[in-house]
Amino acid sequence: MDAMSELIAAACAVRERAYAPYSRFPVGAAVRAEDGSVFVGCNVENAASPEGLCAEAAAIAAMVATGRQKLIAVAVVGGDATRPCLPCGGCRQKMQEFAAPGTVVVVADGNGRILYEGLLSRLLPMPFGPGGEQ
Ligand code: THU
Repeated sequence: MDAMSELIAAACAVRERAYAPYSRFPVGAAVRAEDGSVFVGCNVENAASPEGLCAEAAAIAAMVATGRQKLIAVAVVGGDATRPCLPCGGCRQKMQEFAAPGTVVVVADGNGRILYEGLLSRLLPMPFGPGGEQ
């Protein structure tokens, strides 16, 4: 299996653990760090809705908690062809914080079918970065 298919498979698997009783929109995410290691996260909702956590944020937090601070690829699995789970604005910004130049984001459905694949810089052009606008 190639590296991107492996990342999508990891996101598909963790999506099963999503806690999304309110939206019924489970999402799984997997990030690949610079050294090739993979970290996963799922959305975790809350009765007090603003307290919910996106899958991408959870995966990034898992990576950072191991001491790794550079990611090179992100897979997001959620929704279907009519409702692909394109990362929300907040998650695009969270990815940007740790993304190596050329970071690719792939969005797939629960069957691993790719709905979108492109550079993070396409999803978040002219980002605000740690050093100001980049
Ligand atoms: N969600 C994510 O996990 N990632 C995104 O990029 C967009 C939305 C979650 C939040 C909420 O639990 C559910 O999807 C519906 O919005």
